[in-house]
Amino acid sequence: MKREKLVQEITRLKEERNAIIMAHNYQLPEVQDIADFLGDSLELARKAVNVDADVIVFAGVDFMAETAKILNPEKTVLLPTRRATCAMANMLRPEHIIEAKKRYPDAPVVLYVNSSAECKALADVTVTSANAAKIVGKLDSDVVIFGPDRNLAHYVAKKTDKKVIPVPEYGHCYVHKKFTVEDVERAKRLYPNAKLMVHPECEPEVQERADIIVSTGGMIRRAREWNEWIVFTEREMVYRLSKLYPNIKFHPAREDATCIGMKAITLEDIYTALRDMKYPVEVPEEIAEKARKAIEKMLEMS
Ligand code: 13P
Ligand code: SF4
Repeated sequence: MKREKLVQEITRLKEERNAIIMAHNYQLPEVQDIADFLGDSLELARKAVNVDADVIVFAGVDFMAETAKILNPEKTVLLPTRRATCAMANMLRPEHIIEAKKRYPDAPVVLYVNSSAECKALADVTVTSANAAKIVGKLDSDVVIFGPDRNLAHYVAKKTDKKVIPVPEYGHCYVHKKFTVEDVERAKRLYPNAKLMVHPECEPEVQERADIIVSTGGMIRRAREWNEWIVFTEREMVYRLSKLYPNIKFHPAREDATCIGMKAITLEDIYTALRDMKYPVEVPEEIAEKARKAIEKMLEMS
């Protein structure tokens, strides 16, 4: 089906199903263009609390759709393809948390929302890159167990001066791990006027060279502070930022920083998701109930 026709059909089906499309900032441009709501992980979780629709088509990776379902158990949440998964979230298993809890029984478990519902059910509170340092700073403990992103754990430890135990030790995002100090130096040579906006999933040595370290939502909020930026995160962020601010220059730090899970969702998938009501996200209620407490605590504290 041609793109125009696909968009027409999606609009028609959205009305018929009383559906909305929520999308993450890393989605393909054509998906961003048809979304009813676009945001970072925290904004998407917040929005999911008050959605006025029967069906949420979630254009993002599985843990984000699961979070929307946990917060809206009575609504149908559709993930347009099962290939939309987060490699980092898949690195953390419940056993890692149980093992860390044995070593640090008094430490609260703080989990990045990039984790499975099963793991979230073992957490005291979840965080996103937009509120991790703020929430850990507020916790009444000098030691916290934190997973699965080691680099975000490093950022939080630096910001809060607390002991942050990463679980698993090797947790990382393969997209953000690509950025190196050589990328920083090359970009600075090419664009000497530009400042660096860096996602906290990047390696510590890249974080050290940043002008600002922010979530993707933070990138949008703070872009107006300067007229030229080099963007250290998934490459579609440059599309999102350039569309919002046509008078500001944005350069991707690497063209190959692509999240395969995010890019798995196409317009065609969104059309078939609405047509066939697939793939509904299900979270067993005993897991959802515990995970909901950790997510709601995050929403209260941020
Ligand atoms: P944000 O919450 O900053 O959008 O990050 C989500 C993510 O998966 C980054 O890789
Ligand atoms: Fe997960 Fe990395 Fe993709 Fe974000 S960019 S969804 S952390 S794999």
